[in-house]
Amino acid sequence: MSAALQQRAATPVITIRPARIEDLDALVALEHAAFSIDRAERRAIRHAIRSASMTLLVALADDDAREMLVGAATLERRKGSRNARLSSIAVSPARAGIGLGGLILDAAESDAAAHGCTHLRLEVRADNGAGIRLYERRGYARFAVIADYYEDGMEAWRYVKALS
Ligand SMILES: CC(C)(COP(=O)(O)OP(=O)(O)OC[C@H]1O[C@@H](n2cnc3c(N)ncnc32)[C@H](O)[C@@H]1OP(=O)(O)O)[C@@H](O)C(=O)NCCC(=O)NCCS
Repeated sequence: MSAALQQRAATPVITIRPARIEDLDALVALEHAAFSIDRAERRAIRHAIRSASMTLLVALADDDAREMLVGAATLERRKGSRNARLSSIAVSPARAGIGLGGLILDAAESDAAAHGCTHLRLEVRADNGAGIRLYERRGYARFAVIADYYEDGMEAWRYVKALS
């Protein structure tokens, strides 16, 4: 995504842009706040920021002129494949349920399409009600179930969406 995407969610102005290395501390903090297991490590987040085959998007809220990182999404692409994979999406727990996840997912889909991908795939824990609701509301179709996928043995549901 070349230009920052600005949209309004609830009251604060939300800016979504590719992550920079100076976002690393806030991204690690978000990872800890949003996930209790299967967290990405700091070095994996740093790699995602720098990698040419990945996009890490951050959502920033402009609260009283103070910019705060309130969400993020990571996309992976493979050479020769038109399928992008959303490997992570997270919203700061204090900002959950106000539409931020939807805004970040829109931006992730735009980024995948801008890189020539026709489909976006993802996995979600079978017990992740908020994630499943977010994806199904936005036209993702479940096409596979993978048993024992996560650290604690929970199964994953795989979803795909054709990007317009
Ligand atoms: C999944 C996640 C990104 C959604 O972000 P969000 O900003 O809360 O999403 P939205 O506000 O756009 O809402 C998504 C939908 O889920 C619903 N929802 C929120 N919490 C829910 C819950 N606990 N159970 C069921 N549905 C829930 C919302 O009502 C909304 O549905 P609607 O569009 O019909 O109103 C966020 O909950 C999160 O960061 N979770 C922790 C990390 C995670 O699980 N990531 C996904 C797997 S990688």
